[in-house]
Amino acid sequence: MGLVRIAVLVSGGGSNLQSLIDKIHGTYGEIVLVASNRKNAYGLERAKKAGIAAQVVSGEDYDEKLEALLREKEVDLVVLAGYLKKISPELVGRYKNKIINIHPSLIPSFSGEGCYGLKVHEMAVEYGVKISGATVHFVDENMDTGAIIAQRAVEVDWNDTPESLQAKVLKIEHEILAEAVKNYCLEKITVNGRIVAVKE
Ligand code: GRF
Repeated sequence: MGLVRIAVLVSGGGSNLQSLIDKIHGTYGEIVLVASNRKNAYGLERAKKAGIAAQVVSGEDYDEKLEALLREKEVDLVVLAGYLKKISPELVGRYKNKIINIHPSLIPSFSGEGCYGLKVHEMAVEYGVKISGATVHFVDENMDTGAIIAQRAVEVDWNDTPESLQAKVLKIEHEILAEAVKNYCLEKITVNGRIVAVKE
């Protein structure tokens, strides 16, 4: 049994992808595909620099194209790293508890439809929360509602802006996403309904 074969889906800069390239690729798992719905996603450049297959997937029958790619590459685990398109219920069903997402808040706060990127931090700052953070979770049929694998908090200071909070949370994202993918590859994660256990 070789390394766990990982596909990473990105829509933007790909700093979470870079964290996986640096900490996971070639050790705990092999990133066999980076795909994006946006042709100018810098994450695709990061993949090319690391010698990883990078594909743009767009247009109609998008879901079929994506699934064909995952099958062709014999992907075991899909990681959504700053990926802004919804995964089809069919694909979620076929990859149950094999799709992981990173979200830049402590779900269920500031999560769900329309809560992504900087907007999440604008909502947190506006609300006046004293802690925020990041969540890694399995993807289910809805947005940001799958079983939670890991969370880590950051303090929100009175003078934090959405941008300064985003920077603090992004740092945490890089840490907990890589840890969660490592634990997945080491088969330390078990799911019982909504409860995820990570063996020490
Ligand atoms: C991250 O904040 C991620 O949580 C959110 O979008 C941002 C993507 O950042 N979904 P990057 O593309 O990984 O740098």
